[in-house]
Amino acid sequence: TDPLRLGIAGLGTVGTGVVKIVRQKASLLAARAGRPITISAISARTRDKDRGVTLSDYAWEDDPVALATRDDVDVFVELMGGSDGPAKAATEAAIAAGKDVVTANKAMLAHHGQALAIAAENAGRVLRFEAAVAGGIPVIKALTEGLAGNEITRVMGVMNGTCNYILTRMQSAGLPYDTVFDEAAQLGYLEADPTLDVGGIDAGHKLSLLASIAFGTQVDFDAVDLEGIEKVTIADIRHAADMDYRIKLLGVARMTGRGLEQRMSPCLVPADSPLGQLEGGTNMVVLEGDMVEQIVLRGPGAGEGPTASAVMADVMDIARGCRVSTFGQPAKGLQKAQSALGATP
Ligand code: HSE
Repeated sequence: TDPLRLGIAGLGTVGTGVVKIVRQKASLLAARAGRPITISAISARTRDKDRGVTLSDYAWEDDPVALATRDDVDVFVELMGGSDGPAKAATEAAIAAGKDVVTANKAMLAHHGQALAIAAENAGRVLRFEAAVAGGIPVIKALTEGLAGNEITRVMGVMNGTCNYILTRMQSAGLPYDTVFDEAAQLGYLEADPTLDVGGIDAGHKLSLLASIAFGTQVDFDAVDLEGIEKVTIADIRHAADMDYRIKLLGVARMTGRGLEQRMSPCLVPADSPLGQLEGGTNMVVLEGDMVEQIVLRGPGAGEGPTASAVMADVMDIARGCRVSTFGQPAKGLQKAQSALGATP
């Protein structure tokens, strides 16, 4: 049978992780997909850098658009990041050239997901992004497949591991925000632009994607009521602890009579609840549906192995012939949800 041939753009933590899985688990993947998964070509900003994995077997492209449109690429795997610029240009070029797309790029999808999904739909291509939300947790599969028979009533969760690390460490070590922020920077946890993490923006991107999938609405990141963790003080954390609460950067999306409500903000949660006990860089997503009541998913929200694992989940689905995009229903049919906060009651 024909192999499924990948073109991978971006060889940072996640891209390198994907190459490793494809190389090291070749026979397992082929057995599971019923066909080999191969890499035709790769692209990254820097070529001469030891990434701890053999890359000389693959064609090299300096330009991600050239990579995305190669004849020997079936699936364009976009792992560059950035909401606009090369990632978006290459994704659009890939769709136009008749490629399926797998991406981990939450910022690009939060801003352009709708347009990209419609472009893919019009071209008969598949656009998937399991890795964009909560890293290794297969939350999109859980929502779109496992809970397909439910009406989703609420989705919520801790979707930024860096903020959870900072808040947990302030609590456990009694250290002020600035000190723990510097620690997180030294540990390499922060995004290149740390505001994406501590301003709640990264988590807000993920919430807007989950909400769109859960409620069948257009992605509406601008409607997320957003507050980060920069103003959380050690005194806030102590007061919360005195009452047996923890402070978490919690995202909540639910459909109200006035439309979709999306909030990402520091919240008090009971210390002995699953969310309250979530420590360090871990993520947790809580899905509520009318048939199942509540499902709690907990796991690594970032890092090489977990995020590459989620990218491979999409690649494997496409290899098996799945033609369903992550938005799960025709993107053109998604309704713009009236924002609950902007609407009059
Ligand atoms: N900065 C993100 C986090 C990376 O800390 O969760 C994963 O999206």
